[in-house]
Amino acid sequence: MQTNRIILGDCCRVMPTLPPACADFILTDPPYLVNYKDREGRSIKNDIEADWLMPAFREAYRVLKPDSLCVSFYGWTKTDLFYAAWKAAGFRIVGHITFPKRYASASRLMRYSHENAYLLAKGSPRPPEHPIGDVIDWNYSGNRHHPTEKPLSVLTPLIESFCPRGGLVLDPFAGSASTLVAARSVGRQYLGIELDPTYHGAAVRRLNGYSAGQAAYLDRERATSASVCYMERAA
Ligand SMILES: C[S@@+](CC[C@H](N)C(=O)[O-])C[C@H]1O[C@@H](n2cnc3c(N)ncnc32)[C@H](O)[C@@H]1O
Repeated sequence: MQTNRIILGDCCRVMPTLPPACADFILTDPPYLVNYKDREGRSIKNDIEADWLMPAFREAYRVLKPDSLCVSFYGWTKTDLFYAAWKAAGFRIVGHITFPKRYASASRLMRYSHENAYLLAKGSPRPPEHPIGDVIDWNYSGNRHHPTEKPLSVLTPLIESFCPRGGLVLDPFAGSASTLVAARSVGRQYLGIELDPTYHGAAVRRLNGYSAGQAAYLDRERATSASVCYMERAA
């Protein structure tokens, strides 16, 4: 199986082509089922209907190694649907992680200023030598590559804690490849799947070392026939 790449496609169709028990850790951020749209009008595919939820987590369970872990972000307004899908797939709920933000994502009846994820087990994973806390401070990612881009700083401790060095991290809802960039930065292999060609393109550019901003800059430079000598790598 070819790793260290992001596949363009529907994870419910792509995961069945992967061998069983190939991933050491799954870290994923599926659509929250909230019909999200940001100020620039960017939206997320499959963010209304939940028909993909059960098949996706059934396959995630199959491709995860025995006695291994999955961390899944989720939308708290649809906790019941996510919970049902995880349990139906065979996962045990073994932890809940809260990510407090220093800003509110929305303000209605309350100022909504945290994200959530569940820690899900297949079998009985061995506890890490130095367990991390279940409250992890959130840093704003800037959402440059994707409207709901997760900050690398919250992903890397999860990968270091739950995936062995050199192991394979799978993200079936990879967006702009934040999980994959984080995995690479801490010496893990990675495999991502992304349905939307726009975000897949952003992910490929990011993995190839260019931020979306730099790619747009290069596109503009090319369009004006300026000589392009700017090949600075993304930080
Ligand atoms: C919440 S976003 C992930 C953002 C990502 N964590 C990042 O930092 O860029 C969820 C992503 O899942 C993708 N998606 C939705 N349904 C999918 C499916 N069936 N297979 C693969 N990707 C899917 C969406 O296009 C979206 O980019």
